[in-house]
Order: sequence, then C-alpha cells, then structure tokens
Amino acid sequence: MIEPYYRSKDNKFTLLHGDSFKLLKQFEHKFDMIFADPPYFLSNGGQSIQNGKIVSVNKGKWDKSYGFDEIYKFNREWLSLARDKMKEDATIWISGTMHNIFSVGQLLTELGFKILNIITWEKTNPPPNFSCRYFTYSTEQIIWARKSEKVPHYYNYELMKALNGDKQMKDVWRLPAIAKWEKSCGKHPTQKPLSVLTRIIMASTKQNAWILDPFTGSSTTGIASNLLDRRFLGIDQEKDFLDISKNRKIEIENSTTCGIYKSKIQGFTTDKQLFLNLLKEPSVEYGEAEIRGITMCKNNSQDSSEIKDCSSL
Ligand SMILES: C[S@@+](CC[C@H](N)C(=O)[O-])C[C@H]1O[C@@H](n2cnc3c(N)ncnc32)[C@H](O)[C@@H]1O
Repeated sequence: MIEPYYRSKDNKFTLLHGDSFKLLKQFEHKFDMIFADPPYFLSNGGQSIQNGKIVSVNKGKWDKSYGFDEIYKFNREWLSLARDKMKEDATIWISGTMHNIFSVGQLLTELGFKILNIITWEKTNPPPNFSCRYFTYSTEQIIWARKSEKVPHYYNYELMKALNGDKQMKDVWRLPAIAKWEKSCGKHPTQKPLSVLTRIIMASTKQNAWILDPFTGSSTTGIASNLLDRRFLGIDQEKDFLDISKNRKIEIENSTTCGIYKSKIQGFTTDKQLFLNLLKEPSVEYGEAEIRGITMCKNNSQDSSEIKDCSSL
C-alpha cells in the first residue's frame, strides 16, 4: 500500500513521494487529465540572465542530460505508464522546449496517442539572450494529445471563446512567466505560472475531474486544479518540492487568500469573466467511493492475484 506524503483535509489534493516510474505501477486509478512538466534535460552548464544577474541554467541533478537515447528512453517509459492511468476519453498535456519536445512528439504518435494541438506559450517577459548569438528564447511548447485516435475528448470551446473576448482561442498563448506572489511558499527552479495551468484545466476538464501530475514539483497543477474545483494527485521524488506543494495547498485553504489568488490569475479578458464562467461549467459525476479519494488497489507486485490492500488515499 502507498502511504501518501500528504493528503489535504478536503481529500482534493494528494501528494506521493518517490519515483513516478515505480509509483505509477502501484495504483489503479484512472484520471480525466494529465499535465506533465517532465525534465527538459537542459542543465548542461550554460548560463542565463535573471533579474540583471548572470545565473547558471542548471536546475538540479534530475534535469541533467545524458544524451538523446537516454531522453528517449525516459520519455517512452513515463508516457507508457501515464497512458495506462488515463480514462479512455482523457487527454494529456506535456510542456517542453527544443531539448525534449521532439522526442515527446514522436513518442506520442508511436504509443497510439492522437496529438490535438501544439500550444506555443509566448512569455511576455522573457529573460534577455545572454550570448547575443541567437534570437531571444521566449516560448515553450505544450503538446495536447488524447489517449486514442478514436475516442472523442472533452474541449470546452464555448468557455475558451468567452474568455477570449468572444473570439476563438488560438494556439498561441501570450502569458507572463511566473510572478513573485506565486512563490510565497518557496522557490522551485522551474515553477509554471498558474495562468498557464488554469487555461489548460478549464479547456480540457469539467469540475470535479481527477487530474494527475507525475512530475509535480511545487504542484502548480494541483493548486490550479483546486482553485477550479478539480481533484489532484501529484508525484515528485524531492521532499523539498513536496513541502512547497503542501504549503501552497494550505495557503489556499484560507478563503481570502484563495479569492485573491483567483483574481490575480491573468490571461482572461477580464477577471470577472473567469468567475462568471466557472459558475456555468459542467461537472463530472462520480460514485461515492471515488468522491472520498483515490482507491489504492495494488502492491508492488505486477501480479494482480497478489492485490492485498484496497484503501483510500
Ligand atoms: C520541470 S519540474 C516540474 C515543475 C512544476 N510544473 C511546477 O510548477 O512546480 C520537474 C519535476 O520532476 C521531478 N522529477 C524528475 N524525475 C522524477 C521521477 N522519476 N519521479 C518523480 N519526480 C521526478 C523533479 O524533482 C522536478 O521537481
């Protein structure tokens, strides 16, 4: 049985500590959506500029590159495990840059996913290019894919249009990089902004949906999920990052803070529209057991006859 590292009082935010490659094999739950921000493998000793200072681009051991073959193997394994955790109509979003995104794109097709969009997130405030030998890096790619070729996925077209001044939402999103207020519980070196995750979650899930992030870091996915009334499971191998995640969840349990954070999320024509549209959203219906939490039904063994425990996470 897996012991959660943390589970919130409302059961809507659960964190597991450990290697996703091992943990994903140990439970049976199927999710409505996955967001994954895997290592981009760009920690290669380079330098960049942050707040006017030269800083190393190295994020940590987990982000060090061991070459194309290793990156391909890593991506192939976690994508297969993640696919197994998806409901038939579920979708997956994966963020990346040129360092990993081609490998991810190729593998999605190889593994039977159907690619739906490649979102270009254009950062409105990118750091300057330090070497002056390339264009300034100002974008990240986010691939959106569904589990299978044939089973239709959910897309809240009307909501995206309403939030975009009644025009169809495009696949280029101009949103700022992480803001200071989002780091109130500590720093993760590659934390994603809530504005990016909010848009992703609203576009592709209904209220109550179950969302998984296998590389959760500071759990921006989880915080955005809970702000929008979705449920969340996040996995990370670093306790320090899980502690930031936990503190971020505790922070939004305060209703005033929660309201302030919702009003600070950018990317919509007006703040008011976000709230009005959330009230009109459809909701996923679940059975009683699922509402209480994820049911853990498997131990480490691959043999289903050895299933020993069925307790709620
Ligand atoms: C790019 S960061 C995710 C940042 C996150 N999106 C956020 O907003 O904070 C990737 C995370 O994956 C974690 N990680 C890398 N390999 C892992 C593995 N095999 N199992 C679990 N976590 C892993 C790292 O510790 C790191 O926190």
